[in-house]
Amino acid sequence: MSLTPPRRYWLTGASSGIGAALAVELLNSGAHVALSSRTKGPLEALAQRFPGQVLVVAGDLTNSQTVREIGEHIGVVWGSLDTVILNAGTCEYVDARQFDSSIIEHVVRTNLLASSYCIEAALPLLRAGQTPHLVGVASAVTYLPMPRAEAYGASKAGLRYLFESLRISLSPENIDVTVISPGFVDTPLTERNDFPMPLSWSADKAARHIFAKLEKRPLEIAFPALFIATLWPLSKLPNRAQLIIGKRMLRSPPPKKDDL
Ligand SMILES: NC(=O)c1ccc[n+]([C@@H]2O[C@H](COP(=O)([O-])OP(=O)(O)OC[C@H]3O[C@@H](n4cnc5c(N)ncnc54)[C@H](OP(=O)(O)O)[C@@H]3O)[C@@H](O)[C@H]2O)c1
Repeated sequence: MSLTPPRRYWLTGASSGIGAALAVELLNSGAHVALSSRTKGPLEALAQRFPGQVLVVAGDLTNSQTVREIGEHIGVVWGSLDTVILNAGTCEYVDARQFDSSIIEHVVRTNLLASSYCIEAALPLLRAGQTPHLVGVASAVTYLPMPRAEAYGASKAGLRYLFESLRISLSPENIDVTVISPGFVDTPLTERNDFPMPLSWSADKAARHIFAKLEKRPLEIAFPALFIATLWPLSKLPNRAQLIIGKRMLRSPPPKKDDL
């Protein structure tokens, strides 16, 4: 009787929020998981809680050399990966009155460029894995232009295109690609938000939902359903109608730096 070996994952952004909750879901299922984030403590705590199942591969993923070394380390220890979930990300809002391109640079570097470094490191390992699956966490923000989301939305729209284009290019190699589009989830990332977050989910609920859906490898995992059902049709409206909706969402911007 042959036992199926545990599936091997690489999950980024595993120190908090959705990633930390998803790590627990994966580990509870018996999977082996390489965990990344800059903060090492929570990853080491999971390694202690799930002995023999965790590979701690901490580091700043915006550093391409660090990511290369993480990939090499996973390659040496495991030799392959079956699923890669690129979840690490950040959000900063832009104040158009004092447009600061360094915010765009930082958010795009973290959400888009770092993901591309991870993809470069992961693909050779996925090619050596079993029924390989590449997963990227984008956002429902890409359905509609939102005020102050210039940096975050641009980074996630770029990420979506990157994954959807890769999906086509990787199809001859049978590497499946899934995009995750959360609405609002209560995490350290969103607790700074100064606006209402309709229908928001807990990180645990989001992680359980993602884990349950991942097995079927859909093209997209978007949630909460009611939020998506409201937002998605707006993405099909003409630009002028989208502009009217966007203007309604304009909130009073934060005070100018000089006023503080
Ligand atoms: N929460 C929501 O409502 C929501 C909605 C749509 C999409 N998302 C997306 O979901 C993903 C997870 O977000 P979250 O809400 O769970 O936020 P979170 O709790 O702030 O988690 C972000 C994770 O990314 C890691 N990270 C950030 N920058 C990194 C870097 N340079 N190198 C390595 N790791 C880095 C963080 O760890 P360290 O700080 O320790 O490095 C942390 O583990 C993000 O991609 C986010 O954009 C969230």
